[in-house]
Amino acid sequence: MKKKVWIARKLSDATLARAARDYDTIVNEADQPSTADQIVAMSAEVDAIVPCHSEHFTAEVAARLDPRLKIIANHSVGVDHCNLPALKARGIAVTNTPDVLSDATAEIAFLLMLGAARRAVEGDTMMRDGSWDFWSPAFMVGTQVTGARLGIVGMGRVGQVMARRARGFDMEVHYHNRTRLAPDLEHGATFHESLDTLLPVSDFLSLHCPATPQTTGLMNAETFAQLPKGAILVNTARGALVDEAALMAALDSGHLAGAGLDCFVTEPGGNPALAAYQNVFMLPHIGSATVRTRDAMGFRALDNLDAFFAGETPGDLL
Ligand code: DGY
Repeated sequence: MKKKVWIARKLSDATLARAARDYDTIVNEADQPSTADQIVAMSAEVDAIVPCHSEHFTAEVAARLDPRLKIIANHSVGVDHCNLPALKARGIAVTNTPDVLSDATAEIAFLLMLGAARRAVEGDTMMRDGSWDFWSPAFMVGTQVTGARLGIVGMGRVGQVMARRARGFDMEVHYHNRTRLAPDLEHGATFHESLDTLLPVSDFLSLHCPATPQTTGLMNAETFAQLPKGAILVNTARGALVDEAALMAALDSGHLAGAGLDCFVTEPGGNPALAAYQNVFMLPHIGSATVRTRDAMGFRALDNLDAFFAGETPGDLL
């Protein structure tokens, strides 16, 4: 008999078709984030859940999950929405979808970096509202990306793609990671044991680490102050990494020239106060949102389910 799987959000057509072929699926056609009560209720109906980062498996939810549920095969690389120790204590396997979204996410990080540096929001607004009535050599001058110094926080898969792409812009790349990478994975980037040495050499700082209790508020008043004057922050990782009030204070003082953000403390919606900043280029958490990547994420989640139900260890077991 086919295993029963709840697909908690509307995944790509190719993913849903493959899932329906191999499993008895229930799809959340409403495509809304599920409440704790909905998650708990569904856990009694199915053997597996395929959620996104919008479904929160807190310790409280984990304690209430029905013993029927055996695996949570996330359609996301980030798993800060899952309390892993609590789920493990319940004997529930958890997987994620690394690798397959690294290119797409690094593309968005580059888009944000270039857009914030070259004042894309101001320029686009001007063209749309008809206010472009002046040109001079000093008009709309921005920060040049080519040849600038890029600091990468978190040299995992996305960080490494960033380092490779940055070479195409002749950037001088520096990184901080918990451990130093093997030379062939560094892509010519310089390792920094701590943020204290990375931040002062980062004209652009791009965040690529997970949100954990240790990284929450990583960018705050003190760390922003360590960046060079005129630096630009890029965040495609998680909103929790940035103290948004401190970010706005650094923009207000002119210490930061701008920011490019795909992630916010409050999602969806973001921080309405940031909308007042024309030097902040913002996107609604779409780092991995390409057709190819969404299919790949869905297939990777299903590969993990297939392995689990075949009695093997899923490739992305956490
Ligand atoms: C991820 O996979 O973690 C992305 O943020 C999208 O959920």
